[in-house]
Amino acid sequence: SIKVPKHYYNNDPTSFAFKTCQERWPVIVQNAVDDVTSELNKFNSKEAKEQGKIIVAQLKDLKQKLINDAKIEPFNEPNVPSLNSYDETLQKLPESEITWLTGPWLYLECYLYRLINLFFLKQSHWSDFDVFENLKRETFKSSTFGIYELAIQYREFKKQLDARKPNLDSLELLFREFVDICLWGNATDLSLLANATLEDIKSVQGAEARKKSEKNILANDLDQAWQQLLSIQKNDQKRVDFVLDNAGFENYTDLILSLFLLDTGMVNTVVFHCKTRPWMVSDTMIKDVHLLLSDLQNLEWFPEHRIDLDFLVSEISTHLKNGKIILKESEFWTLDLDYWNISPLETKYGGNLIHKELLHSDLVIIKGDLNYRKLTGDRQWDRSTPFTVAIDGLNKSGLKLFALRTCKADVCCGLPKGKNEELCEYWRSLGNEVGELWCSSGKWAVISYSDGNGA
Ligand code: F6P
Ligand code: MG
Repeated sequence: SIKVPKHYYNNDPTSFAFKTCQERWPVIVQNAVDDVTSELNKFNSKEAKEQGKIIVAQLKDLKQKLINDAKIEPFNEPNVPSLNSYDETLQKLPESEITWLTGPWLYLECYLYRLINLFFLKQSHWSDFDVFENLKRETFKSSTFGIYELAIQYREFKKQLDARKPNLDSLELLFREFVDICLWGNATDLSLLANATLEDIKSVQGAEARKKSEKNILANDLDQAWQQLLSIQKNDQKRVDFVLDNAGFENYTDLILSLFLLDTGMVNTVVFHCKTRPWMVSDTMIKDVHLLLSDLQNLEWFPEHRIDLDFLVSEISTHLKNGKIILKESEFWTLDLDYWNISPLETKYGGNLIHKELLHSDLVIIKGDLNYRKLTGDRQWDRSTPFTVAIDGLNKSGLKLFALRTCKADVCCGLPKGKNEELCEYWRSLGNEVGELWCSSGKWAVISYSDGNGA
């Protein structure tokens, strides 16, 4: 049997955890301080202002604790079941004392966002305030170019689809293109988006553009996901799920892939799984999907290509209204627990319910970096370990899992033998001290599949 390696830890200078906890987390908390401070003045009630000041003080205190490497305390919130999970895990960790700058990365990162959220939950006027909402929307607003391009491309696609049903070969090409867009939608570097129209896709230029980003995809199981989609075509019910990652532009690409799947009849239902609270700064809550649609209709933000944008919004709204695109949320996604807990055996925190729910899906698309870390347990796997090994029991869970992930953290699996060494050397040759950190740069990606029928 395979030995499960240990987690990544914050005090490991060769891990991206190190820089994350020392540099990135204090900035994220400071940004929250600034956001609440400016938001304070918009409240009229004195009580609300006072409450806001309490939150600001708590956030400042948290920032100091981070910097000073304070000890992690249990939440002790018996009325919030999901926080009991955090306390149980904390107790079970092998170290007698866990601190911000030395403890396990994944656990502490989840803990950080829950703690921030708790500050808000405790203040009645602020309990459903999303401290990251301004940032999410500002970033979306500034993605104008990519947003226009995809809206134009989608309307063109739809026109051609209505004129003539595409054959299987062109459907497959389109699937590759839309998956590619959806994958790189997770990267901060939006320049990878090819501005191809439906016709271009078959042209040398479109193929070349795709080739260029293709070499940065280090493992690619897309064929298996395509075969899985083909195998269900005779069914009445054909359903794809998305375990979502970021709101804004990435979610926009999720919607575009969904439209492709629905319009071509490849599936008849798409389910989006959203977070119940602000999470990892940019993750998608149900209200963020609605905000995205209303923001797309903002003429000041997006004055051009109105025909294309309005068309897109109306298509999506119709699917939402008819229940073809369904928005769901669960507390499970903001637990500390990794996704090995998506199992009938996890009955305490809803892992069993998520498992049951996802069994109804013909393909579960799992987006982004954090979700990938939870799939693989955020453990120090040799990077040539097969994905189906690194996801532990999920490999025989019956779930068809399809991970689209740009690499922004250490854990990575499914690479050909020797590839990691090659990239480490390349990364050092660019003047970086730690070669392994190529994997946290967001420049590479993996597309991985598990059919759920055993490794
Ligand atoms: O360091 C990687 C990181 O910033 C983590 O904090 C988190 O796991 C992740 O990236 C967020 O990225 P994504 O939105 O792709 O999950
Ligand atoms: Mg995210």
